[in-house]
Amino acid sequence: MNKVKKAVFPIAGLGTRFLPATKASAKEMLPVVDKPLIQYAVEEAYSAGIRHMIFVTGRTKRSVEDHFDTAYELENELDLAGKAELLEVARSISPDDMICTYVRQPRAMGLGHAVLCAKELVGQEPFAVLLADDLMVGKPAVMAQLVHQFSEWQASIVAVQDVPQEHTRRYGIVSGQNVSPNLVDVNGIVEKPAPDVAPSTLAVSGRYILTPGIFKELESISEGVGGEIQLTDGIAQLLRREKIFAFRYEGRRYDCGSKLGFLQANVDLAEIHEEVGIEFAEWLKKREPLCVEDRFSPEHLKKVLA
Ligand code: G1P
Repeated sequence: MNKVKKAVFPIAGLGTRFLPATKASAKEMLPVVDKPLIQYAVEEAYSAGIRHMIFVTGRTKRSVEDHFDTAYELENELDLAGKAELLEVARSISPDDMICTYVRQPRAMGLGHAVLCAKELVGQEPFAVLLADDLMVGKPAVMAQLVHQFSEWQASIVAVQDVPQEHTRRYGIVSGQNVSPNLVDVNGIVEKPAPDVAPSTLAVSGRYILTPGIFKELESISEGVGGEIQLTDGIAQLLRREKIFAFRYEGRRYDCGSKLGFLQANVDLAEIHEEVGIEFAEWLKKREPLCVEDRFSPEHLKKVLA
């Protein structure tokens, strides 16, 4: 039986929705409370039993490589200062049994193209794809839920959630037959359809387990939505040859590629954070917001009060 041993993290995207923060820094390194987005995704894959992490990177992403490398000077300093707990925090980012490899995506040609860049490193095995922008909180971890489904069905699986009809344009949308309350036998998938033509409101969240058959499809498809090679289009092609399931995972998704989702993740995760959670929750309850005049420019204020 095939096991999922490798995970692909496409991280070459420019992060324009987060300018100016992402002008010279990787958006995947934005911290939610105290941990970068990419570390949440890697920890999720690790907790699903995956040990080989493959990053598809681009320019300005070197900090991701450094983050998962040994920080010799830092560890030495912390060791000498007797700061055992912090030393453990620094070391635990890369457990000894975790392998990280990096491959460059030379041009931003879309998610499908990014996944295709990992073809040689993945080889002929099923693999996971995690989009770090989508921060997932689940127990068990959402990727662990998918791996569990994969072990049962031995077929590609995409994680899905219901979204409001007016949001279909933001996602890959699937259609199909319910196999059980949380599993759908997919018969169609389309990237970012307008609400009036969307086949359903079941939206793909950024977690996939794919069979290696996807690579052949990605090599043969042409540009789709936004002039990019779309992973969704590759999956739609694969559907002609293989069974694909959509799994309604249990957990919460934060769209950390958007400012609003990122702020929501920070508030929710700060509230349950071991170190600051209790104090933060108390502060949240009692806080006095800045008055409207302090928050907005005079021009914006006119709009708000209009
Ligand atoms: C990508 C995928 C889309 C998926 C979404 C989940 O879109 O192309 O199918 O639903 O991630 O976050 P993006 O958000 O990169 O535009």
